[in-house]
Amino acid sequence: MSDTMEIQNTDGPIGAAITGIDLSAAIDDQIFARIEQSLNDRAVIVIRNQNLTPDQLAAFSRRFGLLQVNVRAEANSGQSPEVFWVSNVMKDGKPLGSHDAGRYWHSDLCYLEKPSKVTLLNSLEVPGKNGETYGDTLFAGAAAAYDALSDDMKKRLDGLKAANGYRYMWNKKAHEFGKRPVLSEEELLKYPPDALHPIVRTHPDTGQKCLYVCYGYTHEIVGMDKSESDALLAELFDHVVDPAFLYRHKWQVGDLLIWDNCAVQHKATFDYDTSLRRVMQRCTVEGSVPY
Ligand code: OGA
Ligand code: MN
Repeated sequence: MSDTMEIQNTDGPIGAAITGIDLSAAIDDQIFARIEQSLNDRAVIVIRNQNLTPDQLAAFSRRFGLLQVNVRAEANSGQSPEVFWVSNVMKDGKPLGSHDAGRYWHSDLCYLEKPSKVTLLNSLEVPGKNGETYGDTLFAGAAAAYDALSDDMKKRLDGLKAANGYRYMWNKKAHEFGKRPVLSEEELLKYPPDALHPIVRTHPDTGQKCLYVCYGYTHEIVGMDKSESDALLAELFDHVVDPAFLYRHKWQVGDLLIWDNCAVQHKATFDYDTSLRRVMQRCTVEGSVPY
């Protein structure tokens, strides 16, 4: 099977497409090593034409490490709690999964002490109409973004940490989009507390320095005056999404999109209405404590 596998990089700094493999059956270590290498080189890759059951997705995802069970339990798949549904579809009057995932630029589970190393998102249904597809996912290369900072800015950021908050994100989304209830301070306590991570982190495999603050979760630089912190974060949020560092993923049914949460941040586009169904299944893999 290995001789049919092909990898095609995009023209930009991140992104690649892989064809000619079938992940519904176990693949050998050599093929897996090529996939891992491509992910390390390109930060986000798509493997086309994968029609996977939740268990098959989980089994392949486990090759990257320990799977995480998301704190948003209502979106986890019943039989395989490590599989999380991302969908706008309603079932029995309730959302099938998380229907407002990825509204803001973010890195998955950065609010945990051990954020996600890798995310695997498999499309079962893609919104489409009149030959057009909708709901692209955008990616920003965090290593290219770091490299492009001025030397002065790199010095300024050296050693700084910032707070990444699930609770902060929850109410920001609740207020802005009304798709989830606004929670009181007390209700928020059931979700994880802020995680403090370096603003610039080193990729554990490639050694690249990556900018690790995101608009969705990062809300305070540790030990810095609030107005200075807000201004610096706003500048960094703006910088990281410069078009020069972007890859835009246009979905096909059966895509397995895999990204590295240290090397990219990402965002969903909500450019379709609820009459168009979008159904995705997702696994995230636990990473190490950022340094
Ligand atoms: C995610 C996510 C974006 C999208 O699943 O982690 O951010 O386009 N998804 O669905
Ligand atoms: Mn995400």
